[in-house]
Amino acid sequence: MAVGSMNVEEGTKAFPAKLTFQVFLCCVIAAVGGLMFGYDIGISGGVTSMDTFLLDFFPHVYEKKHRVHENNYCKFDDQLLQLFTSSLYLAGIFASFIASYVSRAFGRKPTIISASIFFLVGAILNLSAQNLGMLIGGRILLGFGIGFGNQTVPLFISEIAPAKYRGGLNVMFQFLITIGILAASYVNYLTSTLKNGWRYSLGGAAVPALILLIGSFFIHETPASLIERGKDEKGKQVLRKIRGVEDIELEFNEIKYATEVSTKVKSPFKELFTNRENRPPLVCGTLLQFFQQFTGINVVMFYAPVLFQTMGSGNNASLISTVVTNGVNAVATIISLVMVDLAGRKCLLVEGAIQMTATQMTIGGILLAHLKLVGPITGHAVPLIVLVLICIYVSGFAWSWGPLGWLVPSEIYPLEVRNAGYFCAVAMNMVCTFIIGQFFLSALCRFRSYLFFFFGVMNIAMGLFVVYYLPETKGVPVEEMAEKRWKTHSRWKKYFKD
Ligand code: BGC
Repeated sequence: MAVGSMNVEEGTKAFPAKLTFQVFLCCVIAAVGGLMFGYDIGISGGVTSMDTFLLDFFPHVYEKKHRVHENNYCKFDDQLLQLFTSSLYLAGIFASFIASYVSRAFGRKPTIISASIFFLVGAILNLSAQNLGMLIGGRILLGFGIGFGNQTVPLFISEIAPAKYRGGLNVMFQFLITIGILAASYVNYLTSTLKNGWRYSLGGAAVPALILLIGSFFIHETPASLIERGKDEKGKQVLRKIRGVEDIELEFNEIKYATEVSTKVKSPFKELFTNRENRPPLVCGTLLQFFQQFTGINVVMFYAPVLFQTMGSGNNASLISTVVTNGVNAVATIISLVMVDLAGRKCLLVEGAIQMTATQMTIGGILLAHLKLVGPITGHAVPLIVLVLICIYVSGFAWSWGPLGWLVPSEIYPLEVRNAGYFCAVAMNMVCTFIIGQFFLSALCRFRSYLFFFFGVMNIAMGLFVVYYLPETKGVPVEEMAEKRWKTHSRWKKYFKD
């Protein structure tokens, strides 16, 4: 599986490398960070629709939910309940900022280990929560775990993977996010009828954290991070091991050159915002995450059980529907694992945007016609049709904006601003997830089915953005991105001196 020295199609050189077991193992273990993230995304919606949880912590929401003539779209509108879901993301923003420094100064591996410890302690606190303070405190620690993990894992994978397989290996992060979401929705389904079921659901977060904690002692630090911190010999040694070839000089020299530029930069954030050459990846990387969230995906991920209940399904039926949607999410991500390094990033992103636009608009239209302010939904088949449409929508996200929202920002920055630039993408993800988590239920209450049209329009905008502004990054070594892609892109080349 050795790779030649020149990739003619892309016009870029590929360094000698095999897809070794070492690299594969490192990527799988690091991607368990995605499992933690996904578990949390999947668990919150189900827990907040459990009666026992509402009775223990949000009795007023419980009462409202059971008032017979309550407005269909406003059953769950409660700021405090939404804060339970979204507090984690506020903590996550702060944490990923810290992690961007920790990861540059101490390496990717210790940052990943810290992520698992935060998450583990947060899970234990939630499991034993006696009051709202403990519950929110636990979520803040989980937010630290996710902030540290999401800041580091995709970068780690992009740095350790050979260019040719970088896309597929990176999508593993998203794949494990989807497995986490799926596992969580199944756990919710199992625990929803148990007394204190929510405790098992929330405490289950300790499992992915433990797997990551143990696993991360077996991963290698990335060569780029070692060389950046002056450990050249160790860097070479790791390169040889993970590439499975003796001839690593070419790649070593390229990383060495990048780190020399990098170490001259004392303040990466200042460099990121003031050097015009960083503008193209900054705009693209950050906007990709903005758009990822405004696909509306977390409306489904957080609130699918609530949405299905809004459409009149019982507790159980709505949890089962959620397991189905999440299963589709995981399976569809596998398509991306394979396609991302074959079809490329842009093709998947545009196709995904079209698919999501069509389904969001249709769901909006159906709800507009069949779910009035009060009274049951009209038309027996409607909940099933909406479920099918949601599955089509979710699969569109799963093979495009889901994985690529993480992959692309991790591969487009030069080393000196990579952590800082990637932080902007992670922070954008967290801010937008917070906004959706915090305000979606209120927005649903106010704008009702029109909300789906809003997301539909956002999907059109993001498709156009990709067509006109995003370069294709498939197969280009990370350290050559500026030369080969930004400097040659018709809309971005003006940001570079000759
Ligand atoms: C997104 C999450 C989303 C998940 C769904 C991730 O890439 O960042 O916000 O819930 O995909 O699979």
